[in-house]
Amino acid sequence: MKQAASADSVALLDRDMAEKNLSGYWRLGMEGLPSEPMTSVEPCLWKWGDVHESLQRAGEVISLENSERRVVRLVNPGLDHKRAFATHTIQISFQYVKPGENARAHRHTPAALRFVVQGKGAYTTVNGQQCVMESGDLILTPKLTWHDHSNDSKEPMLWLDGLDFPLVTALHQVMQERYSERRQAIEKSSEEVMNQLGSSIRHGLPLADFFHYKWRDTESALRALTNSSAARDRFDGFLLEYRNPLTKGPTMTTIQCAVQLLPANDETETHRHTSTVIYHVFRGKGATQIGERRFDWEQGDSFVVPLWYDHRHLNRSSSDEAILFSMSDAPVLKALELYREES
Ligand SMILES: [Fe+2]
Ligand SMILES: [Fe+2]
Repeated sequence: MKQAASADSVALLDRDMAEKNLSGYWRLGMEGLPSEPMTSVEPCLWKWGDVHESLQRAGEVISLENSERRVVRLVNPGLDHKRAFATHTIQISFQYVKPGENARAHRHTPAALRFVVQGKGAYTTVNGQQCVMESGDLILTPKLTWHDHSNDSKEPMLWLDGLDFPLVTALHQVMQERYSERRQAIEKSSEEVMNQLGSSIRHGLPLADFFHYKWRDTESALRALTNSSAARDRFDGFLLEYRNPLTKGPTMTTIQCAVQLLPANDETETHRHTSTVIYHVFRGKGATQIGERRFDWEQGDSFVVPLWYDHRHLNRSSSDEAILFSMSDAPVLKALELYREES
């Protein structure tokens, strides 16, 4: 009887407090906080065939005159579908620009990057800098940089977009602005900026923004790495991070990009970390064990390894290498002193 009265008293207290926008900590129960980081982001794989078919169909029915971008977003089943995010921090989507099309110039607080999947000759203009796109190129559009995409070539262009959209959304900082013209005027090429980079750094001169990593440079650095077996990471194979050449820090403030090469038949060891990683298969075929589930992948597929899940990769080919492009939120966790890793 006394207990019932007590429960009623607590319910009454809770109700009265709720009316005053107050809440008792006792409502969380006796379990307290989890002993390990927890996420609702689920391990997930998206097949290239499904993404590609959706892009093709969008190409038939979506015009760049009535949509800002022709983009297909990858959605994690563990997150709120209304927001259509692949993870809680980084978004991955794919964009399709047909010959003769232009995706208008704008800028926004979410930072973005492009990894080119297919096509040659279209370009992204970032703050007046023309970045001509080829398969395997990585192009950055950091927060609040003006950017537009034009395809003056005869081939369709497809690329991967990575954005810190979910993180910026969680921080309530999303905003977008349109440029006064549909396209920006081109002031210089990214090739010029890349050529100046070495001498500018040597002379300590400030350099115009660096936005473009050419695949030819990435690939030669990756191949050079494979010449030394000591360079092989036991969890990631031969892994090359895209560093910001000006700060020597992560690719962007919020996203670290990398490419990793798994030689034929290679198997990595299991580890886990508090960062979440999105992978895109650039070459080859393999599998990644994530927690209890194994995901078989091949060229064009994308998958998510959520935070604190045990994971390991293997190359399923006995003759061909596999190359994965990845985006991680590790820079954010490191800045907040929340990054942990264990094996
Ligand atoms: Fe954009
Ligand atoms: Fe990992």
